[in-house]
Amino acid sequence: MTCPHCVAAGEFFGERQAARDLKRFRRRGANASTRKLLEALSTENVEGLRVLDIGAGVGAVHLALLEDGALHATHVDASEAYQAVAALEAERRGFGQRIDYLVGDYLDVAPQVPAADIVCLDRVVCCYPDAESLVSTSATAAQRLYGVVFPLDRRWVGWLIRLANLWMALTRSAFRAYAHSESRIRSAVEKAGLREVHASRSGIWRILVFRRDPT
Ligand SMILES: C[S@@+](CC[C@H](N)C(=O)[O-])C[C@H]1O[C@@H](n2cnc3c(N)ncnc32)[C@H](O)[C@@H]1O
Repeated sequence: MTCPHCVAAGEFFGERQAARDLKRFRRRGANASTRKLLEALSTENVEGLRVLDIGAGVGAVHLALLEDGALHATHVDASEAYQAVAALEAERRGFGQRIDYLVGDYLDVAPQVPAADIVCLDRVVCCYPDAESLVSTSATAAQRLYGVVFPLDRRWVGWLIRLANLWMALTRSAFRAYAHSESRIRSAVEKAGLREVHASRSGIWRILVFRRDPT
């Protein structure tokens, strides 16, 4: 992996964090913003659809979609530790054979990743400085639905992110979080030919879902 941000993300989302997240996920299920994203996606029939979950973490999004009848999922994450715990959880739930895994920066591995009916980036663009490239490349791969969750584009959220980054610097972590413009994210998805069908909020998170109309 060449991207320094992804190397730092891989270290930050390392074994301890991944094990903690898996424990929390098993105990409490998906967090509130992920549940809202899933609710918005569930207005569509996902039966038989293929999912691409980028920055998938423990796999909350694609595991729920597979439970709802999706056919197959691809898990892409810069963190090897998250890939390992996600694979463990998928096996436990009986979905092991229906998921492919790729570790790396999505922008590096994108040419190897097949297009999917549903593409999601749940709380991922805030780990990456070039949100527009990440969003436009991933949106192009979405044949039907595209879901993206990112921090609200508000001044006070920007300050929270700066504070979090100060903490990372003080604790000698190379990982940084990034605030991004909501209108730029929206227009990157729209330029890829999708139309917004859902917008909501959960705590500090903005949830947007887009649809590609049949041609
Ligand atoms: C905050 S976690 C979110 C995990 C999960 N989607 C969730 O909401 O619980 C962000 C994840 O995105 C991954 N990530 C960040 N930038 C990435 C990139 N460019 N390509 C692939 N994965 C990335 C990180 O390794 C990390 O696992």
